[in-house]
Amino acid sequence: MSHHIVDFIDTYFTYPDQTQAVKGITLCISHGESVAIVGANGAGKSSLLKLLTGICLPTKGEIRIGETPVTKKTLPIIRQKIGFTFQDPDDQLFMTTVYDDVAFGPRNYGIGEPEVEKRVMKALETVGAVHLKDRAPYKLSGGEKRAAAIAAVLSMEPDILVMDEPSAALDPRARRRLINLLRSFMHTKIVATHDLDMVLETCDRTIVLKEGKVVCDGSSTTILANEELLEQCGLEKPLALQNCPRCGAKKE
Ligand SMILES: Nc1ncnc2c1ncn2[C@@H]1O[C@H](COP(=O)(O)OP(=O)(O)O)[C@@H](O)[C@H]1O
Ligand SMILES: [Mg+2]
Repeated sequence: MSHHIVDFIDTYFTYPDQTQAVKGITLCISHGESVAIVGANGAGKSSLLKLLTGICLPTKGEIRIGETPVTKKTLPIIRQKIGFTFQDPDDQLFMTTVYDDVAFGPRNYGIGEPEVEKRVMKALETVGAVHLKDRAPYKLSGGEKRAAAIAAVLSMEPDILVMDEPSAALDPRARRRLINLLRSFMHTKIVATHDLDMVLETCDRTIVLKEGKVVCDGSSTTILANEELLEQCGLEKPLALQNCPRCGAKKE
């Protein structure tokens, strides 16, 4: 019996056009961990998250969420445990109002309307989007759509929060709200991102991907200070760890 909440066991994934996106990934994530998945464009971050959430199924190997293997049959159980926000919020929002999008998940699980309303309002408040509740999702700005997509996941009260580039298209205030939200989310969270400064503030552990493989897995503060490793993987040291660009003074 595994006590890990997420287990990838020698997992491979090849797209129908024969692009090999994930090439033999083994990793374990335990309850309550906060994990960043980083890597250059095309490194396999989104593909890894799609495998984790069962949007894609592995070509070889296995993924387990708790004791449940991710297969077509187990998808309803997996979806109840994992809240996933897509890289592109347009892939996630499809109802006529933001309210209905955020209510969709809880309604789908047969939760009564008074409880649905409580959850929707709480989720919208958390992302600062109550004022958007009656708007049509497709008419929102990129950052507003992102906030609505995050609320749609929070209303499900998931055990595991999985986000693909959640800070992309957010203005500084919305990004700060996202960081606070991630810090206050006490369950397991897994975030694919290019925003390494956000990683420093929200994730204790970082997994670096390159060409579909894990090249490094460890403490975020150690990995994100390793300039040579980051450069080899097409990344740049977070601003918070860079020296002052004017006087060269070192940051603590
Ligand atoms: N739908 C798809 N069909 C074919 N190849 C894809 C598809 N989506 C992504 N890829 C390829 O898979 C590899 C990994 O992509 P992706 O997981 O999106 O990387 P990342 O999220 O790190 O930018 C890349 O080579 C990309 O071109
Ligand atoms: Mg991606």
